[in-house]
Order: sequence, then C-alpha cells, then structure tokens
Amino acid sequence: MRLLSKSWTAPALLAAALIGPVQAAPRSAPLTAGAVASPDRYGAQAAREVLQAGGNAVDAAVATGFALAVTYPDAGNLGGGGFMTLYVDGKPYFLDYRETAPAAASAGMYLDAKGAPIVERSLVGPLAAGVPGTVRGLAEAHRRFGRLSWARDMAPAIRFAEQGFVVPLQLDAFRQSERGPFIGVANFDRYFDAMRTGRLFRQPELAATLQRIAKGGDAEFYTGKTADLLVAQMARGPHPGLISRADLAGYKALWRAPLVGDWRGYRVITAPPPSSGGIALMQLLIMKQDDAALFHGVALNSPQYIHLVSEIEKRVFADRAEYLGDPDFVKVPGAALIDPTYLAKRAAQVDPVKPSATTGVTPGLEKPQTTHFSIVDRWGNAVSNTYTLNGTFGAGVVVEGAGFLLNDEMDDFSVKPGAPNQFGVVGGAANAIAPFKRPLSSMTPTILTRDGHVAMVIGTPGGSRIFTSVFQVLENVYDFNLPLAAALAKPRFHHQLFPENTVYSEPYAPFSKSLQDALKRRGYRTEAQDFNGDIAAIEINGQTPTPTADPRGRGVGMVVK
Ligand code: DON
Repeated sequence: MRLLSKSWTAPALLAAALIGPVQAAPRSAPLTAGAVASPDRYGAQAAREVLQAGGNAVDAAVATGFALAVTYPDAGNLGGGGFMTLYVDGKPYFLDYRETAPAAASAGMYLDAKGAPIVERSLVGPLAAGVPGTVRGLAEAHRRFGRLSWARDMAPAIRFAEQGFVVPLQLDAFRQSERGPFIGVANFDRYFDAMRTGRLFRQPELAATLQRIAKGGDAEFYTGKTADLLVAQMARGPHPGLISRADLAGYKALWRAPLVGDWRGYRVITAPPPSSGGIALMQLLIMKQDDAALFHGVALNSPQYIHLVSEIEKRVFADRAEYLGDPDFVKVPGAALIDPTYLAKRAAQVDPVKPSATTGVTPGLEKPQTTHFSIVDRWGNAVSNTYTLNGTFGAGVVVEGAGFLLNDEMDDFSVKPGAPNQFGVVGGAANAIAPFKRPLSSMTPTILTRDGHVAMVIGTPGGSRIFTSVFQVLENVYDFNLPLAAALAKPRFHHQLFPENTVYSEPYAPFSKSLQDALKRRGYRTEAQDFNGDIAAIEINGQTPTPTADPRGRGVGMVVK
C-alpha cells in the first residue's frame, strides 16, 4: 500500500490548494461516449443536452446540478452546499462549496437553559440553515473549466422550472413522509403541496430566480435580489435565522487539494476535510486489505463478513468523532489517520470472532438528503458531485419570492460534545459550532483512475452511511469482481460505533431471520434503518463508460453519444 499526500496536513492542504493540484498524470484518454449517472431522469437529460451541445463534464455537472435543484427538491438545491471531485485533462481537483456557519452562530446556539440540545432547532426552520454554497460552487467550477456559456448550462433547469416536470412516485412519497415536522414552523406545504405523483409541477418563482442567476451569475444570488429575499426569509418563523447580507456576500467556495491514495492498482481521488468521507473511505479500504487473511474465503454479506467490516467501521467512527472538523479551524491529523503503519496497527486490533467492547474502541492516534451524480465526457474528464440540503427537503423553509429550499446543515455540527446528530453520529470540539466554520460532512465524491485514466466515478447520499456504502460497492466490484449493476444491487449494512454493537439493515434488502440470528449469536443487535444510500456510478472499461444508478432510488444511467 502506497499512500500519496503523505505529508498531508491542514496547512499543506491549504498551500496545495493555492498552487494547484497535487500531482499530474497523462492527459485523459478519449472515451467512446460521454455518460451520466443521475439520481433522476431529468438530471440525466440535462447532462445529455449539454454534452451533446459540445459541453464537457463540468458543463454537464452545472446543468445537472441546477436541474436537480428543480426536479429533486428533496436534496438537489440552490440553498444547500456540497463537494465536487474532478478529473480534468489528467489532473485531480476538489471544490469545497460546503455551507458555512453564519457570523452570528455560536457553540451553544441549539442548547436550552440547562445545556440540553433542542433537537428540532438545528433541523427545521431558518435557524437550521448554514450559508448556502451551491450557486458559488457551480459558478467556480464553470469559470475554471466550462466550455459552454453559463446560461446555456442553466437552460435545462430553467425549462423544468418554467414548464414543469412530471412528479415521480418516490418524490411524492418523500413529500408525504417528511412534511410533518415542517408544519407550523416552516412554509414547506405552501410551496410543495401541489407536488403530486404523475402531475406536472411548475415552479414559477424558482424559474425567475434561475433566470436572474443565468443573467447575473453567482453574484446575483449572493449580493442581488435573491440575497435580499433570502435574508428577508430569516425573519419568518418562530426562531429567526442568522444569515445576513454580509454572510452571503462573503461566502467563498474553496479549491482544496483532493485526498489522493493508491489502492489495489487504482489511484483513489476523494474528499478531504471538511468531509470525513475521504479519510474514512481510505481507512476502510486499507484496513480491510490489512486484514486480508481474516477475510480470506469469507462470503460477501455473510455474518462473518458483516462482523469483520463492523469491527473496522467501529475504529473509523471513533477517529471521526474525535479528530475531524473544518481544517481551516482545527488541526486535522489527516496524514496520521491514513498512515499505513497506524492503520495496520488498528487493523490488527480487529477481533476475528466477536465485537470488540465499544468502550475499548477509542480514537487511535496516540497524540499527535443529499444526492450524488457522476459524469464523464468523451475527452475522458470526470466529475463526481455530492451536494445536499442535509435532511430531506432541508429545513423545510422556502425563500419566499425565490422559490428554493434552505438547508439544515447546521445539524452536521456537533451541537454538544457527545450528543448524536440526526444520523446518530457524535463529535467533540473539532466539530463545535463557530462563526464561518464548515460543519463536518460525510460526503465522499470519489474518482478512481488507473494509469492516469478514469476507471470509476462514484458517490452517494446517506449521511454517515455515505462512505460505508461507497466502500461496500468498491469492495463488491474490485474484491468480489461483480459487474457494477450487481455490485449496486447487493444488500448493504452499516455500523458506526454508536449505538453499541448495532448493525443496520435496509428496507431494500432486510436481513433474513437466519442472518439476524447469526449476528445476535455474535453479540450484535440488528436494527432496520430507512435508507442506505443511492449510489450513482460510472465504471469505465477500456474506453467504454457504463453508467449505473442504484435500484434503491429513481436514478438513471445514460450513455451520451
Ligand atoms: O454532509 C453530510 O454528511 C450530510 N449533510 C449528508 C446528508 C445526507 O446524506 C442525507 N441523505 N440521506
């Protein structure tokens, strides 16, 4: 195992971001076609239209990003943020357009007088929203790499908003299941009540907002009429929000050095902090390889497989809770966390038979509804983009007059040390709330290359399930040699240190009675969770892309000639 970016630390990362990408490789090889794997068909159509008009993968990503803000309001967004991993002309890049805490945010802002978390406050209503990054992020990517005009890339989204789109069953189902907590606190129903299965759903206010952004660029969103509307929305609701005009005007998307490591002959290009995803993914991949002898002959998703992977995941989540946060605010020991010697030592602590005691799994260093799309173009460039409102439909707050939903990303901070967030994960000082800070994320947009050419583009929503899902699919493809579609279709499971010795199954593939019994005999509790990701991936064999969407969602894969 050879790891690149060995001297990778927060300051080194910043320096690398200023001087450009960390490494160069041969120019990407042309493909027989472009391709997109999108979480819905409208996002795929937008990419196809722009690729066919001569746009590259970045133009297509801008088109899909804006289209999903219209047709996938459960996670696609203008009012959220995300991460984009890119591979352009043979070089890796990473764009951080994560939301930031408003200037007026403070560590105790979601605690009551007794110091207990008020759970809904960081999840619903304007106070839950961080300063949105998506529009600036898409604009930055476009300024640096786009070939077509900004307005051309935005055209499909404007059309979907103006003329409407036919509402998929799953979207209406989410509307119904998620609207409850918004009632009385946020204006969700006023805007989305008409979004019913099979009907045409038009969003005229959103169309006008997109038109303004198409004309005025990202500056319009951050300093123009849209900014005024967003700030006005902060005052509406029982708990006013904190986002000010100055917060919006000062928002920056950041080019950071991607996290780059080598694994099984592939170069893995993935998300650095403020995501935990890249570090966690590399830890999972490397520790599993270190434990190869234990995994020898162990069948995919057998009780022993689930046990061994859970043992590794326990250790990953212990490190995540202790060390990871926004690298511009806390020193993240990134290089130490993916150091081969450190990981070999951690991997050796895996108990081959039974769950290690949860209290015994501590951070290891001695001292010192999100959505994803994947795109490749015929020139061999790739974009892996995960962006989010956090919860499904975010904070449930629509900016009145502008027609888009705001995020509840503030919940990704550690509201109080040790208090679990909505994904059940805990954190401490490294991820405490501070003005302008970015909350720790799990989003893991990832690109694998081989000999300088793109081999896989992959990512998923799922909160803390994100990197364990990406990990499982990569294992299915590269260790179990499954075709991509079969790799996505396999059941997934999840363990994250807390709750203690709990292994989660998913509704898509519930654990059989015998599997549950086998896990119980080993000391695990099994629990059903309602979601385990929605992978959108493209595998490239030779020069042929195979885009594939997760059978769990409403996504499509489309080859674009
Ligand atoms: O950044 C994160 O890790 C979370 N805000 C992602 C949320 C998510 O994946 C929701 N999707 N189910």
